[in-house]
Amino acid sequence: MTDYETILTETRGRVGWITLNRPEALNALNSQIMADVVDAATRYDADEGIGAIVVTGSERAFAAGADIKEMEAKSGLDMLMGDHFGGWARFAAVRTPVIAAVSGYALGGGCELAMMCDIILAADTAKFGQPEINLAVIPGMGGTQRLVRAVGYYKAAELVLTGRLMDATEAERSGLVSRVVPAADLLAEAEKTAQAIASKSLPSVFAAKAALDAALESSLGEGLRFERQTFAGLFDTEDQKEGMAAFREKRAPSFINR
Ligand code: CAA
Repeated sequence: MTDYETILTETRGRVGWITLNRPEALNALNSQIMADVVDAATRYDADEGIGAIVVTGSERAFAAGADIKEMEAKSGLDMLMGDHFGGWARFAAVRTPVIAAVSGYALGGGCELAMMCDIILAADTAKFGQPEINLAVIPGMGGTQRLVRAVGYYKAAELVLTGRLMDATEAERSGLVSRVVPAADLLAEAEKTAQAIASKSLPSVFAAKAALDAALESSLGEGLRFERQTFAGLFDTEDQKEGMAAFREKRAPSFINR
């Protein structure tokens, strides 16, 4: 893969890794890191050899938010016309499941980036929050919308209005985090989870992610119709025949992603 300025990338088996790498700024999300992450994720997504993506940061910080120093002097018109966070929509739209492996701070845009992922694994050192109110602004990369859906209105409102941070235990209890693991095990757990997903049939993985997304974006009726049609569509894949035959024959399936 390309050399990037602000991230490290590595392919391990069928898993594409993206490591945020601006240690001097606790991985604050500036325009360059957005461009790099979006480019890497889009390339992984287009590669049938990749079945899952992991996004991680450093031990100290997943990401401490959007880059305040880059934004500080901008006008409202600059933010609007420059579509300042627009690239993140392309990241959120990748079809491949993305696991956020969060250690340390996931604040503001960092928490919002984690919430664009499908699974959030948190080290027991992780801290989540939307502290934008302390800067006299509000979340701008989806925090008011995705956090409400993740933890419910009242928890989200308290976090967004006070800027209070929550630790990994509270985040898991609130439904923001899929699972908390000891910090030393975070990357190994992310690897294991990603490899497990990447071993499935890719069309069914894409379909499952699309149906899960539909649950957040549509009414129950629309979501159920989408699920039924998508479920039916998978019966036209060779992998569905293989998966069900393997079950009947009591052997492991061998998928070809078709
Ligand atoms: N933007 C730019 N630089 C940042 C940053 C950010 N979001 N967060 C940390 N940094 C920089 C610091 O300025 C510092 O750089 P210098 O050494 O050059 O001064 C370096 O990273 C290390 O940070 P600290 O010295 O502050 O480290 P700390 O351990 O004392 O504190 C922290 C850690 C509590 C996370 C603190 O850095 C902090 O509060 N950061 C800002 C958190 C925040 O407000 N995030 C929201 C940003 S706005 C946003 O995200 C909008 C949106 O919705 C998209």
